[in-house]
Amino acid sequence: MAWWHDAKFGMFVHWGCYSLLGRGEQVMLRDMMPLDEYGRLACDFRPAADWADRVADQAVRAGARYIVLTARHHDGYCLFKTATHHFNAPQTGPGRDLIAEYVAAARARGLRVGLYYSLINWRWRGFWNPAGYPDELPRIVEEIHTQVRELMTQYGRIDILYYDTPLVPGAHTPGSSGYAACPLDQTPAAFYRSAELNRAVRALQPDILINDRSGVPEDFGTPEQRITPEREGRAWETCMTLNDAPNWANIPYSFADKTAGQVIRNLMDAVRQGGNFLFNIGPDARGHVAARDRAVLDRVGRWLQAHGEAVYGTRPGGIYRLPEQGPCYHYGMFTCRGSTAYLTLFYYPGDYLVISKVEPAVRRAELLTTGARLTVEPLSNFRWKIGGLPSAPPDDLPPVLKLEFEAPPRRHGFSGDAWLDGRAP
Ligand code: GLC
Repeated sequence: MAWWHDAKFGMFVHWGCYSLLGRGEQVMLRDMMPLDEYGRLACDFRPAADWADRVADQAVRAGARYIVLTARHHDGYCLFKTATHHFNAPQTGPGRDLIAEYVAAARARGLRVGLYYSLINWRWRGFWNPAGYPDELPRIVEEIHTQVRELMTQYGRIDILYYDTPLVPGAHTPGSSGYAACPLDQTPAAFYRSAELNRAVRALQPDILINDRSGVPEDFGTPEQRITPEREGRAWETCMTLNDAPNWANIPYSFADKTAGQVIRNLMDAVRQGGNFLFNIGPDARGHVAARDRAVLDRVGRWLQAHGEAVYGTRPGGIYRLPEQGPCYHYGMFTCRGSTAYLTLFYYPGDYLVISKVEPAVRRAELLTTGARLTVEPLSNFRWKIGGLPSAPPDDLPPVLKLEFEAPPRRHGFSGDAWLDGRAP
């Protein structure tokens, strides 16, 4: 998992025939569209010839190191060539294998390739009514095993398999409010034979990373829309939307989009705690990135160009983790590499700031944003005054301080009241 831990930042892409309607990826169920009505979307789906290049270019400009694209979402529509059914891109409107185009575009740019795959498929009657269609149940599972094998064999190396929604037939699914659930009495892992499925995946793709959404833990956890580390030692990645709507796919208007500053804040909050950040966009019907998504991601990318060394390949380090004070206790958030700490400033004090409760000594400081050398002055109570900062921030995105310590920095504890007299050791 070394490359993944170093990469930190991925771009999630929700895109399929639902993107035509601009009402998110779950419109089929949310708007209760019957199969024939929904099927017309697949006929009308006409991706632009350059969609994959544009999506991959966006990931590069954003500073993402990998992409995860929806190969099949809950609507069962496959962007790839499959022998299991005709509801797929090569045999409907697009007339092309969109996963082949995506993999080629990502690889050409040195991006790692991830595939999202929904275990649930709303098109099966047996999914909604398992008692009424018991003969469909083994076919539901067979379809998945076949399609996953197709994805693992048709496109060369795949770096990430991102399952979603391990829910058994009859269960409530995202978007199913009002449905009288009648879930099978089986765990998702048992019903989908997930362990067997993942063994087959690893036999075909020995280096692949698999997320935890097939009902078994596998390689990494996937907190959604929140930044919460997994239990000690386990790898995790937060996925998050740019908009604040309940949609991961294309919506033409949205009034609560995250700003570039908020995206960087979430990225750094995940990274400082040892997690990855998978940031989502929903391209339009033709597969082009919306102007408002592009504006935000391009700014994040420009920030990463100047400050990437504070992100990629860093580790949380031993300075502190203070959930009780929020992530910005010390002006901003710390990330570490050996004896170097990076402090991403989420507010800007101007002129100087004080590093406290960290040891050992600070040797050297620089404003990474401009490359300017800063002054380091010891103060009482084992503090360091970092001076020479411009009185106004150099940019309208968070500046980053680079601090060289004598050894890998860690938290410096204190006790008692001596600090009130400036005598804390
Ligand atoms: C949620 C949504 C689903 C989306 C997924 C991404 O589960 O319901 O539509 O694909 O998040 O992690």
